[in-house]
Amino acid sequence: METYTGIPEELKLAVLERIKPTEPEREKLLSIQEELASQVKMAAEKLSVLGVLVKMVGSAARGTWLSGTHDIDVFISFPEETSRKELETLGMAIAREVAKHSEHAEDRHAEHPYLNIIYKGFDVDLVPCFRVPSASQIKSAVDRTPFHNDFVKPRIKGHEDEVLLLKQFMRGGRVYGSELKTQGFSGYLTELLVIHYGSFENTVCAACSWKPGEKIDIMQHSEIEHEEPLVVVDPTDPRRNVAAALSLDKFCMFIDHCRELLKNPELSFFFPVPLLPLEDSEILERLENRKSTQLTIVFKTPDVVEDVLFPQLYKMEQAVATLLKEYEFTVIKTGVWSGKTETAVMLELISGTLPHVKKHIGPPVWVKVHAEKFKEKYQAADGVFGGYIENGKYVFEIRRKYPTAKGLIEDRLMSCSLGKQVHQSVNEGFEIIENAGICRLEDPNFRVFLRKWV
Ligand code: UTP
Ligand code: MN
Repeated sequence: METYTGIPEELKLAVLERIKPTEPEREKLLSIQEELASQVKMAAEKLSVLGVLVKMVGSAARGTWLSGTHDIDVFISFPEETSRKELETLGMAIAREVAKHSEHAEDRHAEHPYLNIIYKGFDVDLVPCFRVPSASQIKSAVDRTPFHNDFVKPRIKGHEDEVLLLKQFMRGGRVYGSELKTQGFSGYLTELLVIHYGSFENTVCAACSWKPGEKIDIMQHSEIEHEEPLVVVDPTDPRRNVAAALSLDKFCMFIDHCRELLKNPELSFFFPVPLLPLEDSEILERLENRKSTQLTIVFKTPDVVEDVLFPQLYKMEQAVATLLKEYEFTVIKTGVWSGKTETAVMLELISGTLPHVKKHIGPPVWVKVHAEKFKEKYQAADGVFGGYIENGKYVFEIRRKYPTAKGLIEDRLMSCSLGKQVHQSVNEGFEIIENAGICRLEDPNFRVFLRKWV
């Protein structure tokens, strides 16, 4: 029997060496944050907006950011009494004033507008928010963030490396990021896990025995029940689950990743070898080996942010799978990929064709009225191959409406429930590529995706 010897100190050090910001990198970030803070204050003065405070939040403000990532979250906080309209117009006016000194600026939208700018190479979010007395009295979802900062900062001091290790380990397991595309762990969530369990290693050990329904409530103040696989009650808001965005599969991928690390602690769990794009010849070989049917629905990528696009793509993936099952096709797996110009919904089927004959089972013969009606209807119908009684029921062998999955999708895709922008784009035109036809899609990112797919 193997005994647990822990994660070697050298391994953690080797990881930290690659991800821990160096002193000059830290100083640079700090001075940029200070610059931005004074820019915001000057902008507010220039525009004669009173009562505005600047707050640095996120991992950059807590010393839990990974080297090489350059995102700074600047919150522009307004007195609680400010109206939503004022917050938006004045907040954005201040942000735009700051943006005059930036390389690039882009309007973004969460619950209300904010500005994303590139400032001296840093990716900066300028977010207007309300200064509310507590996180349970927020007026807008972003108002919670400053409270997160106040909770985490004093408690994470001295444990920053543990957060860095956990974030990088989650990146390595492709479960880091709470965007709707990833449905994984957010930065704040990893910090709370480290605060709760005390270290990276303790978190990994604990996660090996997690089950759906796992609940962590640091402040012991939970007020409501949650359905999600992992519940981490927000220490600043008793009604919120910080892990609400985590999907069941990402939750389980993390558990698996933790177990594998403890079995064999290696650098590759933190830094997986990047996958190479699949070559045409490799695609052909793998498809030949699998002998399944690959269908790829391709359409123009809708011009919306990923947080809007991906939920719609996942919805479409589900809808098409349901449609195929309804018409007796057997789906092995489904997936989505989206690039700059083209988007693909992928379906692997046991077979893309079914026989022309379809077995249609009717009511039991003794249910007189129904049974007679059924028999009458099918006996007289066109394209009926034959009928008989089996297990007490009338059975007719009729002609299948959709003997090919491709034909079915072509005919019925538009009547599936698709999200707004995906519907629009699919409506403008889509293509169904069969099997090795996918060699037409040459985007290297798609080819990397394909390596995992087949
Ligand atoms: P970020 O997404 O930038 O995360 O959100 P982060 O904590 O700075 O982590 P990394 O290192 O950049 O990946 C900034 C802050 O906004 C709040 C959190 O307080 C977070 O620290 N936030 C963000 C949420 O509450 N929920 C989210 O889904 C995202
Ligand atoms: Mn951040």
